[in-house]
Amino acid sequence: MPAFLSALTRFCLSSIGKKILVALSGAAMMGFLIGHLSGNLLAYGGPDAINSYAEWLHSLGKLLWIARLGLIGAVVVHIVFTILLVIENRMARDQAYAYPATVGASKASRTMIYSGAVILAFLLFHLSHFTVTIFNEFGTDKYLDAEGRRDVYRMLKDGFGVPWVSFFYILAVGLLCMHLSHGFASVFQTLGLSSNRFRPVVETGGYIFSIVLFIGYASIPVAFWFGILN
Ligand code: HEM
Repeated sequence: MPAFLSALTRFCLSSIGKKILVALSGAAMMGFLIGHLSGNLLAYGGPDAINSYAEWLHSLGKLLWIARLGLIGAVVVHIVFTILLVIENRMARDQAYAYPATVGASKASRTMIYSGAVILAFLLFHLSHFTVTIFNEFGTDKYLDAEGRRDVYRMLKDGFGVPWVSFFYILAVGLLCMHLSHGFASVFQTLGLSSNRFRPVVETGGYIFSIVLFIGYASIPVAFWFGILN
């Protein structure tokens, strides 16, 4: 193996290397979440706004696939290296401590692995719901608008017309934002961007970021529920 590749592999498998990969992949997904929310909020502009946005996205063709592959890569790296870190931490803890190492940790940080697992389950459900459309007719000719575009607005209306689906979305987005409230500050800390002085600012930034995302995402099923969008 070339010296550069073996040094890179050694770095990726070191404790700090794993933490940096988890932080960078998490930051990439946060970027996606901001972009995806901005697109979703176009629903408030009516069917034409969100349907033409979706049409434009799909017209990107190869570029869209490059972005999708990047996102899938980020999800895989985030999960694999988180699991490796959990195993490493458990092994170190079993040897070093006779008391729980989670004392003093926040609820969000202690539950990161569980909220992460529910978010993954939500993501698989969400992709089969709106993108791969395996258990509904959203991907068929029945869901085209008057201009022959994918009728994303009606997909949202009909999708969120099922109460348990809306409830599950709100719950999952709530867990996602709890996960992010801790993850946001962790990214800064791992990348060495958060000194003791700035830690409270970064932590507050994490709370504000996750609350804004929660309100934005959850508002869509809620708006269809209350007839603000219809
Ligand atoms: C209420 C909240 C949400 C709504 C209304 C929503 C809506 C949508 C819609 C309509 C699509 C299909 C777009 C199309 O095919 O043109 C989509 C795709 C997607 N959503 Fe969401 N979404 C929400 C939350 C989330 C969250 C929280 C995540 C991540 C954890 C997420 C990740 C994705 C991904 C990865 C895709 C596939 C994008 C692609 O086709 O390349 N979504 N979403």
